[in-house]
Amino acid sequence: MTHPDREISKNVTVQQNVGLKPYNTLGIDAVANSFIEVTDQDTLGKLYKEGFFSDQKFPIILGGGSNVLLKGDPKSPVLKISIPGIRVTDESDHFVRIEAGAGVNWHELVTWAVERNFGGIENLALIPGTTGAAPIQNIGAYGVELSDTFESLRAFLPESGEFNTFYYTDCEFGYRDSIFKRELKGKAIITGIVLKLRKSPHRINDSYYALKNHFNEAGVSRPVIRDVYDAVVSIRRSKLPDPSVLGNAGSFFKNPVVDKSFFETLEKRYPEMPSFPAGDGLIKIPAGWLIEQAGWKGKRIGNVGTYRNQALVIVNHGDATGEEIFGHAIRIQKSVQQKFDIELVPEVNILE
Ligand code: FAD
Ligand code: EPU
Repeated sequence: MTHPDREISKNVTVQQNVGLKPYNTLGIDAVANSFIEVTDQDTLGKLYKEGFFSDQKFPIILGGGSNVLLKGDPKSPVLKISIPGIRVTDESDHFVRIEAGAGVNWHELVTWAVERNFGGIENLALIPGTTGAAPIQNIGAYGVELSDTFESLRAFLPESGEFNTFYYTDCEFGYRDSIFKRELKGKAIITGIVLKLRKSPHRINDSYYALKNHFNEAGVSRPVIRDVYDAVVSIRRSKLPDPSVLGNAGSFFKNPVVDKSFFETLEKRYPEMPSFPAGDGLIKIPAGWLIEQAGWKGKRIGNVGTYRNQALVIVNHGDATGEEIFGHAIRIQKSVQQKFDIELVPEVNILE
């Protein structure tokens, strides 16, 4: 049976039975019972007044869909956040404060900043998805995390119908983690964020091994932020699959962080194992290496596989369902657990 779309108010329409394949980078063909695209923050207040958040379960929030696994058809309505806009709110000789709508494409925001010579987020170039999702897992790459430049965000709280501002300490950022992945999961709809970027002098972060190698090979001894941006774009293109060609959600698991004594026992068995210090006597082990050692790199089972250049990326070779992808992730998890006694924790948000 087809249901007619319902107009809640001008510019706010609840669409029925919407195919979500174009809205998630794994390319899962799930269907949303109801789907609303939110292009301004007032819409959230209107939806609240209409009782949208009281008589239904909390909706599923979607940005660019680049870090979600739709395990099946979502049981709750889907809200796609598409709030636009980038503006400078204030500046001094050295700093600039910028505000961006949650729907702004993250890479476009990075490009916008680099074009104006505003430094601080150039290492985060080419991360897919929206600006509003960036705080959820405190996106990070090539030695930099969102939290390094983050000042605050504004969010709508569907329980109370109010907006709240969350400052740096409120967000409890960690490695691929924030309060919005834990206590406030699904309870805060981010509408915009504020970042503090540097006009001058810039702080170049080229300490990540892949960036260092890139600059050594290119003979660049004093990179500027545009060089870092270009290098990150080039390294990422060589390593990670383009979701428009091969469905994926980036790293499927987080890199496990283990204590030093466990690491030392493991290192005796695997002296070639790569590792990185993670503070407080903790060591980070690349999950990609563990998965490769367990024999999964480039391996394909039916429609699902791991990427040939990066074992941490699970790929959809065709028409894989969410359940198939999930099953593959569980198989990988089990085999790494058996071989290394390490539990891999998904980075990707599994939505049911
Ligand atoms: P979605 O996938 O739509 O949502 C992710 C989560 O955030 C969901 O739980 C969703 O409910 C929630 N959410 C989304 N928007 C909002 C909002 N406005 N308010 C409240 N909750 C919201 N990540 C990294 O950190 N570093 C990388 O280097 C990196 N590389 C990647 C490479 C590839 C090829 C791909 C496909 C992904 C990569 N990712 C990386 C993961 C992903 O790009 C980031 O997590 C990104 O921030 C997700 O943004 P999104 O808009 O697509 O979020
Ligand atoms: N490795 C292998 N085999 C593989 C993949 C990696 O041995 O198949 C080894 C590499 O040789 C290297 C180490 O693992 O020694 C690290 O690899 P890489 O530099 O590719 O980074 P990563 O740890 O796999 C992390 C992030 C990425 C981010 C890059 C760059 C996580 C979970 N992933 O990947 O983020 O882009 O570093 O900073 O922290 C994402 O979150 O979706 C994502 C892509």
